[in-house]
This record gives sequence, structure tokens and C-alpha cells, in this order.
Amino acid sequence: MIRVLFVCLGNICRSPLAQGIFEKKVKDENWDDLIHIDSAGTSGWHIGEKPHSGSIQVARNNSITIEGQKARAVHRSDQSEFDYFIAMDRENEISLITEFGIDKSKIFTLRTFDVDSSGSDVPDPYGGEIDGFNNVFSIINHSMDHFLDYLRQNHTILP
Ligand code: 4NP
Repeated sequence: MIRVLFVCLGNICRSPLAQGIFEKKVKDENWDDLIHIDSAGTSGWHIGEKPHSGSIQVARNNSITIEGQKARAVHRSDQSEFDYFIAMDRENEISLITEFGIDKSKIFTLRTFDVDSSGSDVPDPYGGEIDGFNNVFSIINHSMDHFLDYLRQNHTILP
């Protein structure tokens, strides 16, 4: 079993989208039984909330359901529960190391998997217009294909 945790600041905008997009791709590959997926925030500001309406909307427009998700914070105990911590931006990556003691070797920013990426961060859409959420969706969706390729190449359990 490969265990993947997507991480952003609030766990209401970017990482719930990343979780939903990844779940759909994993299902399409028939890898459901091989990969465990969750998301969390480096802050506890929105614990228990469902995803932001902008994220729900853009997900729905792309036939992905995320409204059943509930925000939670990262815990130090996640260290032993997950193999990959996929951060949406550099700030999240630094928090995972300094505040939660997660091994650097387990942490990647999502966009590092896309060699042609124009930036390292998935921009924070919170407080912005729906265009920002659409932009976030397309960045995550594109980078996620590269992450899937990485997993396929590095885990022989994946067909
Ligand atoms: P997220 O976006 O990290 O993608 O979930 C944010 C959500 C909430 C806040 C900031 C970013 N906030 O300041 O409450």
C-alpha cells in the first residue's frame, strides 16, 4: 500500500482538490486497493469544514465530487501513517519539516513532478474569484499526471 497525504494551509481550497483529482485518476487506473489517499492543512483554522465553495464548484464542473471531505490539520503522527507528503507550496513544505517533524525525504511540492512547470507553487486561491480556482484546478490536474508517472516508475506494485 502506498500512502499519500496532500497538504496545503487551510485544507479547504487546494489540497481537497488535489485529493479529489488524485482519487479520480487512481480509480481510473484501477489502483484503488493499492493507494491510500488523504489531505490535511498545516493550520487548524478550518478544522471540520467542508471544502471552499469555489473548489467544490470547479471540481463539480470536472465531474469530481469533493463536498464530502472535512478539513483536518496535519498531525505529527502522520509521519508514520504516510509515505508521501505532497505540499501545494514551499511554505507548506517548510511547515511540514519545522512544525511537524516530517522527514524531508517524504516531502515533495506537487509541481516539482512537472519538469516544464512555470513555478514551484500552486497559488493560494482563497479570497479570490472563481478564475483563481479554475487556474488551481488546471495546475493540479496537469502536475498530478506527472506524479502518477513518478509513482508508476518507482513502485513495482503498480501495474
Ligand atoms: P488552502 O487555502 O490552503 O488552499 O486551503 C486557504 C484557506 C484558508 C486560508 C488561507 C488559504 N485562510 O487564511 O483562512
